[in-house]
Order: sequence, then structure tokens, then C-alpha cells
Amino acid sequence: MKALFEVMRPGDPDWALAESIDAARLPKHIAIIMDGNGRWARKRSLPRVAGHRAGVEPVRLTVETCARLGIDALTLYAFSSENWKRPRGEVDTLWRLLRFYLRREAPDLMKNNIRFNALGRLEVLSDQVRRELDETRRMTSGNTGLRVNLAINYGGRTELVDAMNAIVDEARSAGRLDALAVTEEMIEARLYTAGLPDPDLLIRTSGEMRISNFLLWQIAYAELYVTDTLWPDFGRKDLLEAVLAYQGRDRRFGGLSTAAKGSQEDDSLAEALGVSLR
Ligand code: IPE
Ligand code: IPE
Ligand code: MG
Repeated sequence: MKALFEVMRPGDPDWALAESIDAARLPKHIAIIMDGNGRWARKRSLPRVAGHRAGVEPVRLTVETCARLGIDALTLYAFSSENWKRPRGEVDTLWRLLRFYLRREAPDLMKNNIRFNALGRLEVLSDQVRRELDETRRMTSGNTGLRVNLAINYGGRTELVDAMNAIVDEARSAGRLDALAVTEEMIEARLYTAGLPDPDLLIRTSGEMRISNFLLWQIAYAELYVTDTLWPDFGRKDLLEAVLAYQGRDRRFGGLSTAAKGSQEDDSLAEALGVSLR
């Protein structure tokens, strides 16, 4: 977390925010649905693609801030399997911007010790895009810091279907289809995110209260944080605010909060009321 203070000055509005973050309780994995580019552009009477262009810098800044904070993994939703429904020109611009980002950021990914990966059905993307994604992945594969995953042509349902089919295919080739009993571990090992911890914090920008087919399996117990900020306006302050909100949450995973857990009071109360079931 120390590295974060190197890019801020005391008195900056984010300085106090950063100081109130508990470095020992950071989310290990942050996932972000980067939404609102189109609305950002419309508010300025610009074409939607101008919003996508303006959305590149917040990606750079968010990646850098997460690396400096000491987050383990950051997964960014860049293009969903449903986004093909958009006009051809908009889709083409998104691919152009992706290639621009990869080329421009390569040196910084190396400098910041970041490991890059792409998640999604990548085999249908153009050769050019696939080659550049692959190159960035290979180039950064020896890095040991923040793991940045870009979800591209990603759909949570497709990911689960692919995982199930992989399990069935493997069992069939091993001649064990009859005895196949699927477990959570088997599914997890075949998701695009195999080897990554589940996201602790899921951020969505632009105020939309939905998941839009993102990481359906992995977010089972993620803390959700929705901000009205549109993605092109998402700054360091917004990210730190989300992390602070996360640290204020009581994560129970179906159990009880630490405060309630060992409480003798509850037992005596139950007894006094004659509702003890033991
Ligand atoms: C998010 O911004 C970027 C992508 C989905 C690729 P949108 O383009 O969805 O922006 P809005 O939701 O129309 O404002
Ligand atoms: C989700 O945003 C996909 C990405 C951010 C890449 P959308 O803008 O596509 O989601 P909906 O259509 O509003 O649900
Ligand atoms: Mg949108």
C-alpha cells in the first residue's frame, strides 16, 4: 500500500481516503463492470464511441491504483457476449481501442510487475486481436504482482456451459461417463478464472443494479458496490471509496458476524424465553 502514497500528495482529496484504508483487510480480488461510456458521451452530445475512448484512461489508472494498493487480482468486464448486438461501428471501435490499450500499456504492465490475462470465448475474435492478447499474456507471464484479467467476449452462462462440457468430455475420453459425479471443485477448475480467488468486491459504475452475465459462479459471496459515477469519470477517489465501503461490510458467508458468534447473551435469552431447542 505504501506505493500508493508515492503518487499522491498530503492534502490531495484522496490522501485522507487512502489513509483510512486498512492495509490488512484489502479485498484480494476486485471485479468491475465498467459501464456508462455511452451515457457519458451523450451528456456531452458526443457519439457513443467518444465515451469508449474516454474510458481507456480510467482503465489505466484503476490498474495502476490496484497494483500500488497491493490488490492480488483485478477483473475488468470489457466486452460481454451480448455486446455483439451493438452497431458494427461501435463494436469495431471497441476492438481498435483494445489493441491501442494493449500496445500503449505493455511497458507499464512490465514496469509495474503486472500479469495480464484475457477471459472469455477468445477463439472467435479476429486473428489480430487474439495475437496481441496472446503476446501481452506471454510477455507478462513471469511477473508476480497484480493479476489483471480482461473479460472479453465473456458471458457467465457460456463459461459455465463450457466448464460442464469440458467435464463431460474428459469423463467420456477416460471411459468414466457412467460414474461421473460433478463437484464444485471440478467446475471451478474449468472456469476461465481457475486458480484465481473469487472476487471479494464487485463494483458496477453508472448506477445499474444488475450483473449482466458477469462472473455468475464466482460472485456468490462478493460484496456488491454500485456507484452512479460513469466509467469515464471513475477516478482513484471512486476506487478508494469502494474499498472503504467494502471494509465497512460484515461478511458472514451464511454464518454469524464475529460480534454475534460467541455471544452467551443470546443463549441465556433463549433459555429465559423457553425457546432453547437443544
Ligand atoms: C460500457 O459502457 C462499455 C461496454 C459495454 C463495452 P456502455 O457502452 O454500456 O455505456 P452505456 O451503458 O450505454 O451508457
Ligand atoms: C455490461 O454492460 C458489459 C460491460 C460492461 C462490458 P452492458 O451495458 O452491456 O449491460 P446492460 O446491457 O446494460 O445490462
Ligand atoms: Mg451499458
